[in-house]
Amino acid sequence: MADLEKDIAKILITREQLNTRIAELGETISRDYAGKNLILVCVLKGGVLFLSDLVRAIHVPHAIDFMAISSYGGTRVESSGVVRILMDLNVSIEGRNVMIVEDIIDTGRTLTYITENLRTRNPASLKICTLLNKPSRREVNVELDYVGFDIPNEFVVGYGLDYNELYRNLPFVGVLKPEMYVNAGAEHEPSGS
Ligand code: IMP
Ligand code: MG
Repeated sequence: MADLEKDIAKILITREQLNTRIAELGETISRDYAGKNLILVCVLKGGVLFLSDLVRAIHVPHAIDFMAISSYGGTRVESSGVVRILMDLNVSIEGRNVMIVEDIIDTGRTLTYITENLRTRNPASLKICTLLNKPSRREVNVELDYVGFDIPNEFVVGYGLDYNELYRNLPFVGVLKPEMYVNAGAEHEPSGS
């Protein structure tokens, strides 16, 4: 872990802050979904650490399922919003109360694609829960129902979020040192610069 931590410029959200906020979200969601047929839809791979902690903070019955998507084009630090479904849900969501669990909403393009797609399957309701939100980067208007943290316009890694598939295992959310992008030969600057 020390190897990865040396690439981090600063910690934005500590493990303790994550724990506290996720416990609060779990309480709110448990209240809102008492007696409802809830299914959490986790978007792989970034949302998986958040999901695994969130479900343990939700104390009403619910199912979970997964979707994997990939963006066409774009770069490793910016999504194009043109999305392809790599792995679809295993179950029907028709008539069920669906909550999408995301790691981060940036431009909003990925989420827009997913919600439009899931809406065609006639869920009873469709809500969004995201750990992180970068409001300053929004290009498409999306309505977020549950947000862990609003964060500034910086490229973050850790707690599920990656750069080039690394850093997902860091227990906090941090800002990567700018030279890490340069060394990795990214085509674009990170979204924060
Ligand atoms: P959007 O379509 O621009 O909203 O992008 C959402 C996706 O881009 C997220 O699910 C992440 O996979 C990725 N992403 C956006 N910002 C960051 C970041 O700061 N760190 C890591 N991944 C990010
Ligand atoms: Mg993601």
